[in-house]
Amino acid sequence: MNPARLSVERADAICAHCHASHVPNADAWDRETVTDPFNAGGDLRRAATMFWSEAEQKALYRGKSPRRMQPEPLDGRFWGDGTPLTTALEYQGMALSACYEDGHGRMKCISCHSMHQGKPNFQLRDGMETNAACYQCHETYRDTLAAHTHHSAESPGSLCTNCHMPYQVYSLLTTHRTHRISVPRVKDSVGTGKPHACNLCHLDKSLGWTQDKLGVWYGHAPEPLSEEEKKDPSALLHLGQSDARTRVVVAGAFSWPPAREASGTGWQGPLLVRVLEKERYPAVRYLGFRGLRFLYDVEPADYDYLGSPAKRTTQLDALRRRLDERCRPYPPAALDSLFLKRKDPDVIINE
Ligand code: HEC
Ligand code: HEC
Ligand code: HEC
Ligand code: HEC
Ligand code: HEC
Repeated sequence: MNPARLSVERADAICAHCHASHVPNADAWDRETVTDPFNAGGDLRRAATMFWSEAEQKALYRGKSPRRMQPEPLDGRFWGDGTPLTTALEYQGMALSACYEDGHGRMKCISCHSMHQGKPNFQLRDGMETNAACYQCHETYRDTLAAHTHHSAESPGSLCTNCHMPYQVYSLLTTHRTHRISVPRVKDSVGTGKPHACNLCHLDKSLGWTQDKLGVWYGHAPEPLSEEEKKDPSALLHLGQSDARTRVVVAGAFSWPPAREASGTGWQGPLLVRVLEKERYPAVRYLGFRGLRFLYDVEPADYDYLGSPAKRTTQLDALRRRLDERCRPYPPAALDSLFLKRKDPDVIINE
């Protein structure tokens, strides 16, 4: 079965069979053989029911009929605005995008991916890691790039995916691009846990700063923000106060080359060391330390993110002494007051 010869819905069903969240429809399965009733080319909706929040997943397992339920605050698969937060939900992300036109347009997984051509990493069609992926359908942006992005054409701030498919997904000890192609609106990052695209590159800037620019450049109406959201760097606020789902995504951004280009290297060292001191989730420690290794001449042996608390304290003391010299020191009092307000509920990120 060649998906290129199928309708959008039937082609995407092949990928969504594995790259979407769904619960099997018990009555479609043969109880004797327990054979998955879906075959490539068939209708996935007969075999399984998609879910868009873990609350909905639980309801489906209890045999309740499907209806859209909003993600609860600590949902392990979706941010508060419904955007997937893990990999394997690429279909959900794409389907939530205006580009997808609910499956009635041209967009499908193989608009950008090929299982047989292109580089094996990410399995993209040739050139689809560039703006060509978007010019397929948004041709006019080719001539208006810098005017649209307000960054020079060569800047990473002019790569469409950096604003419209940012790294808001976590799994496998790293971050990934979201497949929900959307306008980076401030409101989708207030109270939802989902870090804002601009602030995943501009790590030294506040959400208020982003909001001001979006107002001036694109006429976006302002959202009510707290005093801290207005003035404190968004990355700092998240690492200090947000739950571990958000912390792990923000920590991952510190080793992203475009974020270094936008945010410099003169301040992250002491901050990341203090974050590591307070962090109880090994995955966040791993990515925070990956940031230190990327930004400074720090070696893998300098910190064991799985080490005993005593070992880690000794290692971090040494790192802090080295990095305090290289960086503008962070006012520790400001950080301590941030950590004081941290709510740190247990979270489980499911794939
Ligand atoms: C039978 C299950 C299955 C089907 C069907 C499937 N995939 Fe995957 N896909 C996977 C798994 C599992 C991985 C992760 C493999 C790994 O990292 O070892 C993956 C990985 C990928 C990757 C990432 C490769 C990388 O370098 O990280 C892409 C892109 C991808 N799949 C796209 C697709 C598309 C597009 C389709 C439909 C044409 C599709 N897949 C169909 C299971 C599936
Ligand atoms: C296969 C065609 C197709 C591709 C490829 C595509 N888009 Fe779209 N996009 C559309 C269509 C159709 C719409 C809806 C247009 C409308 O409603 O006027 C849209 C809408 C959008 C919107 C508006 C979203 C909203 O919520 O209002 C943005 C932003 C966008 N696209 C960005 C991108 C970016 C960035 C890429 C590349 C990563 C991309 N698109 C690739 C077809 C596509
Ligand atoms: C508009 C283009 C576009 C469409 C449509 C698209 N993808 Fe992707 N996808 C990308 C890009 C670009 C990347 C590579 C991201 C990167 O560079 O990190 C990617 C990466 C992936 C990955 C690897 C994630 C990772 O970081 O390991 C998977 C899996 C994947 N896509 C699956 C899908 C599936 C399944 C569909 C359809 C439901 C789909 N994609 C539709 C552009 C697209
Ligand atoms: C620096 C961030 C940034 C980059 C990079 C960027 N965009 Fe946008 N884009 C935005 C913002 C912000 C909006 C919302 C504008 C508005 O509300 O009028 C937007 C809106 C859009 C829309 C919807 C327009 C509408 O009228 O609804 C499309 C389509 C779009 N962008 C496509 C692209 C494409 C294609 C690229 C790459 C060639 C790209 N964008 C690069 C920030 C960016
Ligand atoms: C992928 C990284 C990236 C993203 C995403 C990004 N920028 Fe930038 N931005 C840069 C870089 C790098 C520069 C430095 C100058 C340049 O390259 O154009 C910059 C410069 C700027 C500047 C001018 C310098 C300054 O610090 O005042 C502003 C303002 C700005 N960006 C705002 C935004 C806004 C608002 C968004 C989201 C709509 C955004 N950027 C998204 C990378 C990014």
